[in-house]
Amino acid sequence: MSEATMTRSPATVGYAPWIIHRATAVLLVILLAIHVGVQVFGITVFYEAGVYQPLLDLTLLAVFTHGFLGVRATLLETTWGRTTKRLAVWALGILFLAIVAIRLIG
Ligand code: HEM
Ligand code: HEM
Repeated sequence: MSEATMTRSPATVGYAPWIIHRATAVLLVILLAIHVGVQVFGITVFYEAGVYQPLLDLTLLAVFTHGFLGVRATLLETTWGRTTKRLAVWALGILFLAIVAIRLIG
């Protein structure tokens, strides 16, 4: 088996989605470390500073953005027709946006 690790080309998925996918991945490393630190290891400093809820909201946003871009990239790699792909990506995007909006605003 080859030792090469392949990631997607920005030319395939679009440059902005490519950057945002990776930026949210890096952000998630930090946010999930904080989240698990608080929930599992009982770190209280974020509660005391009053920033835990905003950080949790940001985690929700980052998870859904990153997840959307990952599923979008996978959909773009299918053999589906152009219109079907566009419809599927838009449907997914609207669904994810609705979930995040209802959770954060509602
Ligand atoms: C052992 C691991 C985990 C534990 C014990 C845990 C526990 C919790 C708890 C208790 C809450 C509610 C916090 C509150 O409302 O004050 C929460 C919220 C949340 N968790 Fe986790 N979690 C874990 C792992 C994860 C992972 C791996 C992710 C992301 C991939 C994640 C994403 C979130 C998000 C986005 C929220 C906010 C949900 C919302 O506002 O509706 N958690 N978690
Ligand atoms: C520390 C946290 C995370 C890091 C560092 C990370 C990093 C990455 C990277 C580098 C990629 C590959 C992008 C590409 O080749 O185009 C990826 C893909 C993906 N990620 Fe994450 N990710 C994390 C958490 C998550 C979470 C919590 C979810 C779920 C919401 C998620 C869902 C996905 C999906 C669906 C893909 C596409 C998978 C595929 O096509 O095989 N990731 N992630």
